[in-house]
Amino acid sequence: MAKKLYIETVGCQMNMLDSELVVASLRKQGYELVATPHEADTVLFNTCSVRQHAEDKIYSALGRLKQAKQRHPEKIIGVLGCMAQKDQRLIFERAPYVDLVVGPGQLHQVPTLLAEIAAGSGPRLEVSLERTAGSRAEVEGSFESYDPLRDEQMRPSPFQAFVRIMIGCDKFCTYCIVPTVRGPEQSRPAALIEAEVRQLANEGCREITLLGQTVNSYRHTAGGVTSRLSDLLLRLHSIDGLERIKFVTNYPKDMTDDLLQAVRDLPKCSRYLHVPAQSGSNTVLKRMKRGYTVEDYREMLGRLRATLPDAAVTSDWIVGFCGETDDDFQATVALTREGRFKNSFIFKYSPRPGTKSDDLYLDDVPEAVKRHRNQELLALQTEISEADNQTFLGRQVRILVEGPSKASQKREAAGQPLQLTGRTNCDRIVVFEGQPRQIGQFLDVAVYDANAFTLFGAVVTRAVGPEVYSLAL
Ligand code: SAH
Ligand code: SF4
Ligand code: F3S
Repeated sequence: MAKKLYIETVGCQMNMLDSELVVASLRKQGYELVATPHEADTVLFNTCSVRQHAEDKIYSALGRLKQAKQRHPEKIIGVLGCMAQKDQRLIFERAPYVDLVVGPGQLHQVPTLLAEIAAGSGPRLEVSLERTAGSRAEVEGSFESYDPLRDEQMRPSPFQAFVRIMIGCDKFCTYCIVPTVRGPEQSRPAALIEAEVRQLANEGCREITLLGQTVNSYRHTAGGVTSRLSDLLLRLHSIDGLERIKFVTNYPKDMTDDLLQAVRDLPKCSRYLHVPAQSGSNTVLKRMKRGYTVEDYREMLGRLRATLPDAAVTSDWIVGFCGETDDDFQATVALTREGRFKNSFIFKYSPRPGTKSDDLYLDDVPEAVKRHRNQELLALQTEISEADNQTFLGRQVRILVEGPSKASQKREAAGQPLQLTGRTNCDRIVVFEGQPRQIGQFLDVAVYDANAFTLFGAVVTRAVGPEVYSLAL
């Protein structure tokens, strides 16, 4: 009988890709996915440590499994990913019924470790070296990029895929745990990435998203030739069948002209650039050790807008960072207003043990102030997003149809036609009434309504002239 696997994933796209690959490798070993931990023989959590809240969620989910494990001692419980690397043995102390702890650099070991645990080995822990525990080469070697051969049947979507181009991070922003838990920055060979994307395209994948913590710092040298992200984009652009290339996350200082020009000149590149500013105050940016000033960011954004006037730019912001004054926060508000971001991801500062900011500075902005700043910035961003989306009214956009919209189930119950969702080349979400066969297709849609988050459209069925079309309403 197939072994039943339940997996819960939190964190960034890197983690989503890791979970996909772990599940694929376990399905090859005869596991099948189930929808609840209750039905499962093996329960895995792929975890995130970027903020305290992400960790709390996992520890409470583990807490809820305590009794189930008492009743079914043969149920295997595993903690994978960034929190596994960060907390290591502490996880066994806090939840003694956990069987497996595996860091993100050791995921290739999961199938073997599970088999050993099932055979009675007892609890297992496999993590990578801490960053100061050896030479750079030793530490790098202990973080393996987990990129087994992709399996078509096991991808969540047949026409979209994440592709890792680098692992780790060397930027060491003072607030951030990622360089600790994901290890040194290492770029994958361009030839390997190209082979992976070719395979994905052959299997019908039409859109890929290249992943790296600072994806535009990508640099790999082979045979005396160095590839930057712009070179990689050019290389991937020629792959038949592939129609859209996205990449996240960009580091502002590495937003070089060659990259902006590559995006401009290569039509398959998505006009969507996530370039987190984090703060609009130079004092705060310095304390964050982001390595740029507001003036530098503004200069980068100016170059970006000049080269790619139609691109959508998004940002992350941390509010309530150590020592952030009202004036500092207002500088963030000003940069948000000035930058006209398509969207902003706003986070309240969460001190992470072992990071520079936690060692050096007091987390002195009260929670209520953090919350208030979060709300104020979000309200401004919503206003900007709405105004920005309104400019799409009456326009025709080309979208890749992703699947049923969030509202589709409720609508179906109410007897309404199927509503699908897709994304434009600049990553805007469009919902429209459509047919199941349109999922995975590129379609032209005319936008008739918009709010801050969504464009509402109708499929363009017949082009009768360059500017004239009829709508299937
Ligand atoms: N590599 C990416 C993303 C890192 S984590 C980058 O460099 O942009 C995603 C976002 O989480 C960050 O951009 C930052 O805004 C936020 N973040 C990271 N550490 C945080 C912390 N300690 N508290 C609150 N937000 C944090
Ligand atoms: Fe964290 Fe900074 Fe690296 Fe992004 S660039 S992962 S915020 S250390
Ligand atoms: Fe979280 Fe790890 Fe990603 S800490 S944000 S899952 S790299």
